[in-house]
Amino acid sequence: MKKILFAGNWKMNPVSADDARGLFKDYVSLAKRFGGKSGVKIFLAAFPPMPFLGLLADTKRPRNLFLGAQDVFFEKEGAFTGFVSPIQLLGLGASHVILGHSERRALGETSATIARKIKTALQAGLVPIVCVGEKERNHSGEFWHELRVQLEESFKGVPKQLVSKVIIAYEPVWAVGEKSKGAVSPKEIPETALFIRKILSHMYGGKIARALNIIYGGSVFPANAAEIISSGDISGFLVGRAGLKKKEIEGILNAIS
Ligand code: PGA
Repeated sequence: MKKILFAGNWKMNPVSADDARGLFKDYVSLAKRFGGKSGVKIFLAAFPPMPFLGLLADTKRPRNLFLGAQDVFFEKEGAFTGFVSPIQLLGLGASHVILGHSERRALGETSATIARKIKTALQAGLVPIVCVGEKERNHSGEFWHELRVQLEESFKGVPKQLVSKVIIAYEPVWAVGEKSKGAVSPKEIPETALFIRKILSHMYGGKIARALNIIYGGSVFPANAAEIISSGDISGFLVGRAGLKKKEIEGILNAIS
């Protein structure tokens, strides 16, 4: 049965614990409702702000709802002021972590740092959702080079024995967030996913690259979710804005189930 992941990146929202609890309750009820539908197996994952993780982990949730963090540090413990260890995340009930989001890359996080984070997260037992995507999609095709370098550098030193647990989120930077130009055309998704698999097959071999889960992120809404998912080779979404509103999440889940 086809498996689809709806991953909600809450970013720095909401600001109050009560609102976070309310939103998580929506995730719980939607996970229950859509978990048992026929045809596809739907999984949800909520990525709340770090201070709310422990709080939400105490809420009873169905097995098809995961909890994750929006970042983690590349060391497990020690004198690292302000950072969070993957072991601490696991202790709070998180199973997933978003790494290399474009909003963090824009603030200076490099692919080399992301590579270290992926490695430590995997070694600790977390599932990393690794974001890659071009800043611009131009006719000259330079963005393919940008994507290749990003992938090669972000996976440098990530061991072959662990890499198959990674989920890749293809998130073109220009398609993410309020000021974006909207989602990528669904036509472009299969060739981009194929390209990502090709680069990773050079690094890890065809078998691992073919089996990797690739999800799409950037302006996913109820109106375009079905078309994106049926474009092929995508096994879910990383959702920002629409992941903060029950109606929109429900609309996306309806469109893909
Ligand atoms: P968006 O954000 O859905 O609001 O475009 C996606 C993301 O940043 O992961």
